[in-house]
Amino acid sequence: MLSDLLDNNRSWSERIEREQPGFFKQLAAQQNPEYLWIGCSDSRVPANQIVGMLPGELFVHRNIANLVLHTDLNCLSVIHFAVHVLGVKHIIVCGHYGCGGVRAALSNQDFGLIDNWLRHIKDIGYHYREDLLAETDEEGRVNRLCELNVRQQVKNICHSGIVQQAWKQGQSLSVHGWIYSIEDGLIKDLEVDIDSDGDMPGIYAMQK
Ligand code: CO
Repeated sequence: MLSDLLDNNRSWSERIEREQPGFFKQLAAQQNPEYLWIGCSDSRVPANQIVGMLPGELFVHRNIANLVLHTDLNCLSVIHFAVHVLGVKHIIVCGHYGCGGVRAALSNQDFGLIDNWLRHIKDIGYHYREDLLAETDEEGRVNRLCELNVRQQVKNICHSGIVQQAWKQGQSLSVHGWIYSIEDGLIKDLEVDIDSDGDMPGIYAMQK
């Protein structure tokens, strides 16, 4: 029932206010998150909950299969605002194993409109086809591509002018790649942490 959601909201608000009096009033005055989270829209991967963050602590962008495309004004605007206005210190791309978007991209089915979005994942799959072929079953290929996708999105973020500009200005900003397992609720750090343009392929680097 839809009314359950509103009831839940009232009791949640009361509980927070009881535990931390003045919480909402303080939050309304300003937000000051240190993290930008870019994750999948999947209902099983709720950003704040899985990292135990309260309202105000995480700036969030979610879309199907956590893609960061340089033509996606929505995502770029979120990154721009987070980096240059809020001054977040970390951008976390968090994918998840068994991602439906990645699974769909690996299939040859026609899904209609969304195929245009999934094509970006197909491109990654094609680029790393050898790695995918090394997997013995479909589940393995899906999960491998989920990881490769996160790694690629981390790079995409670093290649953006938004992030390069921040580094040029001496802003402390690092980009990380994580992957979440719906089966046990645990996040694995893929250990792709980039905090400068040092290793960036020349073609993406902007003049300093
Ligand atoms: Co997903």
